[in-house]
This record gives sequence, structure tokens and C-alpha cells, in this order.
Amino acid sequence: MGLLTGKTAIVTGAARGIGKAIAMKFAAEGANIAFTDLVIDENGQNTEKEIAALGVKVKGYASNAASFEDTAKVVEQIHADFGSVDILVNNAGITKDGLMMRMSEAQWDAVIGVNLKSAFNFIHACTPIMMRQKSGSIINMASVVGVHGNAGQCNYSASKAGMIGLAKSIAQELGSRGIRANAIAPGFIITDMTAKLSDEVKAEWAKKIPLRRGGTPEDVANIALFLASDMSSYVSGQVIQVDGGMNM
Ligand code: NAI
Repeated sequence: MGLLTGKTAIVTGAARGIGKAIAMKFAAEGANIAFTDLVIDENGQNTEKEIAALGVKVKGYASNAASFEDTAKVVEQIHADFGSVDILVNNAGITKDGLMMRMSEAQWDAVIGVNLKSAFNFIHACTPIMMRQKSGSIINMASVVGVHGNAGQCNYSASKAGMIGLAKSIAQELGSRGIRANAIAPGFIITDMTAKLSDEVKAEWAKKIPLRRGGTPEDVANIALFLASDMSSYVSGQVIQVDGGMNM
């Protein structure tokens, strides 16, 4: 028996990166996986194949997490296909960095839409199902910059601070219905999102990390597994930083 045997998990933005690592980790512990991404291209198809090889049910759904309508439809479809929704990981996210003085309205709206409104969309669609089941674990992917701020990322850090407030509010609203909600705040994790940073910026980050390395998607997935499973049955409304000790 795995830690998540028989559970259904939705992971958004999981064709690659941290979302994929979380979906794989959950599948290795026996969860059936419904994941979403903007398109299910080669990355998404590979993710599907790799998860299927672990012996669980899996399906990738093309859906824009920032769209309220798309999300309502995809969650209805997932519920019909899988029969339950036990775990929701709001992982889809983008960056469109810039200093406030130069930030366009479009940069602001895109990041808030994909990183924060998406979580509202999915929580709104999934919680009626979880309430009927009288159990559920919701995990919002935040960031250390949502706790501490970061010059040049006002849109991104506001969206991630929002993910923390959202998780804490849901934890308070729905705890009595058996639903837990927590946030993960990763630091510098090596994925496509951080690959585009210059070597100079990466070296600056490394200096601030006591463990002297960037994190791996699996480092984050391990915490997601803890929060998704009954190992954390008395943990709700928390933010767990996974950052090699960068922020204490
Ligand atoms: P990534 O860029 O490798 O993967 C993000 C995934 O989200 C991609 O597959 C992308 O297609 C998908 N996506 C983008 N817009 C979408 C939309 N509208 N609807 C559905 N899917 C969409 O990024 P990474 O690094 O795996 O990040 C995952 C999450 O972790 C994000 O929320 C990110 O903000 C957060 N995070 C990442 C950190 C890092 O250092 N890589 C640090 C802190 C937080």
C-alpha cells in the first residue's frame, strides 16, 4: 500500500517541471492522476506514459487554468472520469518579471491570472466534491518571494502572497468539512522557469543558500507528498518553505 493508494489527485500545469515531479511522486504512492496543462504536447504525452508505467490511472487534460469556464468544465470531466477528487495541487505558474516602473498592465494581469486566479478557479470547482466526500487536501504552490518579496517581481510575488492568503482562508472556512489547505514556498528550484535566468543571477542566488545548491523538483514533490497524505492529517493553513535554508 502506498501513502495515497486509491486517491485521485489533480495537479495543474504538470506536463513538466515541479508539477510533473509531484504527479510522478503521487503516482508512485498509488494515486490516480488527472493533470492539466495549456496543451498536452510531447511533454504532456511523455508525462502520461511515465505515470501510466507506475501502474495507476492517468489522464492529461488541455485546459487554461486561468479560465474560470475551462476549469469548471475540466473538473466536471475529471470527476466523471475518476469518480472522486481527493487532492488538488494548484501548481500552474508563469513569470513576467519587470520593475514596477516598467511593468505593463498585461504583465500584471497575466501573472495574477495564471498564478492566483487559477487556484480560485480550481478550489471553487473542487471543494463542492471534497465537501461531499468530507475530506480533501489542497496544496497551493507559492514561493519564498510571496513571503519575502523580490525587487523586479511585484506581480509574481503578489500572486504568490495571494496563494498563501487563499490557502489560509480555505483552511479556516473548510476545516470543519474535513478539508485541509496548505502552501509550499519553494526557493530556487532547477526547472525551465529558472533555466532562463543568467549565470550571474543564478550565482547570486546560490550565495544566499546555506545548502549551496539549487533545489530539485523532487525536493518540492516530497513536501507535496507529505501535505497530500495522512502523514500531515493535523497540518492545515501552513506555509512550508523548501529553499535550502535561504530564508529562516
Ligand atoms: P515550469 O515553467 O517548468 O512549468 C510550469 C507549467 O505550468 C508548464 O508546464 C506550463 O505549460 C504550465 N502552465 C503555464 N500556464 C498555464 C495555464 N494557464 N494553464 C495550465 N497550465 C499552465 O515551472 P516550474 O518551475 O515547474 O514551476 C511550477 C510552479 O512552482 C509555479 O507555480 C512556479 O511559480 C512555482 N515555483 C517555482 C520555483 C522555481 O524556482 N522553479 C520557485 C518557487 C515557485
